Amino acid sequence: MRTYLITGGTDGMGRGLGLHFLGRGDRVVAVASGEAKGRAFLEAAGRLGAADRARFLRADLSTVAGMNAVVADVAATETRLDGVVFATQRFQERRTLTADGLEYTFALSYLSRFVIGHGLAGLLSASPAPVVFNLAAPGGFAGRIFWDDVRFEREPYKGMKAATQASRANDLLAVDFPRRHPDSPVKYVVYNPLFVKTAMAEPLKQPKKAVTSVLAALFAQRVEQAIVPMARLMDDPPAERASAWRRTTRLPLTGADFDPEAADRLHALTEDLVASLRA
Ligand SMILES: NC(=O)c1ccc[n+]([C@@H]2O[C@H](COP(=O)([O-])OP(=O)(O)OC[C@H]3O[C@@H](n4cnc5c(N)ncnc54)[C@H](OP(=O)(O)O)[C@@H]3O)[C@@H](O)[C@H]2O)c1
Repeated sequence: MRTYLITGGTDGMGRGLGLHFLGRGDRVVAVASGEAKGRAFLEAAGRLGAADRARFLRADLSTVAGMNAVVADVAATETRLDGVVFATQRFQERRTLTADGLEYTFALSYLSRFVIGHGLAGLLSASPAPVVFNLAAPGGFAGRIFWDDVRFEREPYKGMKAATQASRANDLLAVDFPRRHPDSPVKYVVYNPLFVKTAMAEPLKQPKKAVTSVLAALFAQRVEQAIVPMARLMDDPPAERASAWRRTTRLPLTGADFDPEAADRLHALTEDLVASLRA
């Protein structure tokens, strides 16, 4: 029986993967901030006969305290992790700062993956074939990291700019993670599912919400379809420690998005940021 931690595990693709793993007999800890979706996830687990293998852990992963609380809880309750799926998102149309004073999307969609991934590397290394599966958008969208202004203090804010900045950061995290844990068996997969019909439109205001929902109904994959290649990849990742995918197409880890020097730079910037919050 394998054990998976899934952030954003109560909706969309995180939930889909969680129910898939529960359905085949594995254990799942799903993390999210809302109680109602957490309860609904546990009820769905019950319908699969997996109530005793499912757990909901409530945490706000936009805050460093929430990220650290998840690491501490899982470290205290689990002896090993076979997989971690990162699938949180909450699109911010307007620039929003977290309780730590960070830009919301940077914190939720990138920093939580940095803190939890590194924080649980030891538990992952106790598994014979551990996988970190980071759902982001490699190879699909443009965007860049605003190195001197990751909080968008001077750079004019747009929700898509923040989302693509987080995605570029996750590309670099995928390159960097294996280098920080050179003796670990963890395989790091960064994955772009393209357009999938999920709760993605929920945070949008009208008319964008309605337009996105209609586009999703017309063009997006269903979660049940989208998770099939993801689960396959998690069960059988490539031999290399890091890989990037756009659905079933493997992307070369070359070019600016996967530049090892930029990965070093981002690692240092992120550590400084976390340290400054501690001070
Ligand atoms: N859907 C797409 O077309 C698409 C395309 C490319 C990439 N992706 C990526 O795929 C991943 C999954 O996307 P999705 O569309 O399946 O997501 P989704 O349906 O919108 O679900 C998001 C999940 O994140 C949780 N969450 C949101 N804010 C949180 C917070 N502050 N703390 C903890 N958990 C929080 C939500 O629960 P609560 O709200 O209750 O906290 C929910 O469980 C994301 O990383 C996304 O960027 C999606």
